[in-house]
Amino acid sequence: MTSADVLIVGSGAAGLTAALNLADRFKVTVLAKGALNEGSTAWAQGGIAAVLEPGDTFDNHVEDTMVAGAGLNDREIVEFVVENAPAAIERLQKLGVPFAQEGNALHLTREGGHSHRRIVHVDDATGWAVQEALQRAAEAHPNITLVPDQVAIDLATSRHEERYSGAGNVWGVYAVDRKSEKVHLYTARATILATGGAGRTYLFSTAPRGATGDGIAMAWRAGARVSNMEMMQFHPTCLYNLEVKNFLITEAVRGEGGRLVNPQTGKRFMTYYDSERLELAPRDVVARAIDAEIKRYGLDYVHLDISHQPADFVRGHFPNIYDKLIGLGIDMTTQPIPVVPAQHYTCGGIIVDRDGRTDLPGLYAAGECTESGLHGANRLASNSLLECFVFGEAAAQHIAAHWEALPPVPPIRPWDESRVTDSDEEVVIKQNWTEIRRFMWNYVGIVRTTKRLERAQHRIKMLTAEVEDYYGHFRVTPDLIELRNLLQTADLIVRSALHRHESRGLHYTLDWPETLETPLDTVLVP
Ligand code: FAD
Ligand code: SIN
Repeated sequence: MTSADVLIVGSGAAGLTAALNLADRFKVTVLAKGALNEGSTAWAQGGIAAVLEPGDTFDNHVEDTMVAGAGLNDREIVEFVVENAPAAIERLQKLGVPFAQEGNALHLTREGGHSHRRIVHVDDATGWAVQEALQRAAEAHPNITLVPDQVAIDLATSRHEERYSGAGNVWGVYAVDRKSEKVHLYTARATILATGGAGRTYLFSTAPRGATGDGIAMAWRAGARVSNMEMMQFHPTCLYNLEVKNFLITEAVRGEGGRLVNPQTGKRFMTYYDSERLELAPRDVVARAIDAEIKRYGLDYVHLDISHQPADFVRGHFPNIYDKLIGLGIDMTTQPIPVVPAQHYTCGGIIVDRDGRTDLPGLYAAGECTESGLHGANRLASNSLLECFVFGEAAAQHIAAHWEALPPVPPIRPWDESRVTDSDEEVVIKQNWTEIRRFMWNYVGIVRTTKRLERAQHRIKMLTAEVEDYYGHFRVTPDLIELRNLLQTADLIVRSALHRHESRGLHYTLDWPETLETPLDTVLVP
């Protein structure tokens, strides 16, 4: 057993921000399920939204966030995050993030749904620079212990106390060590879930392999509510390539003038779908437009074309994307880029309040695994890293301010493996994993119907019985843990989608095409 004051599950932007804000006072342990930089944070391209130029205002940023979110956002939370954005950027600069400059000021790029230029960035690889800076600071701090290769299985709760108190607290996690394959108990007075999203529930996703909704599934199993899980964001422009399946082409390409063109007709089609905002309409609008063109014309992809801009400008703004595409035989300064929509972001998640508190005493959460009220029915571009910084800090501040009220950890039972054996058929895991991702893509994608959702639900019920049986008989492995969570998350997405009898933001269904007057969260209670 390993004890810390605070345990953080996740070493991305949310987890490391929380750790750095706690470490001057507390001993903090941070777990990651693979290498420390394997979450979505390191993959972020476009940047971080903040009001930084005199012509822009907080009200503009709040309004843009609410419009993108189709009114489902919590306005107070949106204001809280937007107003804290400039300070978050300043702290990142102090940590050494080398944001692109224009003269003496930060260079601000533009993305869909933003009425102003307000995205700070490090060329087209912002997340990598942010992850490096946060990790460097965390590694240098004597009170932070970073432990990679620990796959959290479940939260340790009152149910695991040696003498059951019935208080319902969370006391840490059980996690399997990838190297020793042993299950380890990590305890703490406060636990923060910062486990990222659930993108890998879908066949095509821009998210890294580990985005399997682990934190959402663990919190749900322990008794925390989740909400708006049907709001799965599809990014309009993922590279279409038979070898490279999940390479994002940042929205900033459209922000800097990139146009979407139907390769068969040669026409710029956004004029038909959103004649005012064109390629810079919110993501749900652009993704649906591409989906409609692909289906109508029987296409494999559409074209994203920025070749009308000067070649130096394109190479200067998008050096990493340019290099990647050149390696694949596409010169974006002279040729259009083939793109398709792909799952990109999980807007729903564990319900948290403004302090990052979940429903369970001692359990906090921050970042993409949460539903804080910021994103509503569709996240505005580059608001996600921002949410990680603001809520990572808010959770840390709440823990520090209420430390004395957090009870000490009672004796917790170790993991019990007495009734399981080693798996005899690993192929079951691979088969089920692929099946879930495929039917989620086909039945629970950009355009939904009740019939398709019910089909998905039927498959989920059958697979759940199979996987739970497997889980009950065999020793846990990282793949089995992820499969179980993927299935749990898929179930939450489908149940939420079936609950919503309207089309709003990212949830678009042919059976309920209207948008109801009053926006209501879909809240699932365990
Ligand atoms: P992550 O960075 O995903 O980190 C999750 C952490 O949890 C990892 O350390 C992982 O190992 C750990 N973990 C998960 N499960 C377990 C487990 N069971 N046990 C132990 N550890 C676990 N947002 C923006 O604002 N701007 C952008 O430009 C932008 N670009 C993006 C580009 C791409 C390609 C993608 C995929 C996303 C992009 N996003 C962007 C979204 C943004 O990157 C993510 O929402 C954000 O980084 C999430 O951070 P996080 O800290 O919540 O989780
Ligand atoms: C992008 O660069 O297009 C991604 C930005 C985001 O997801 O916020």
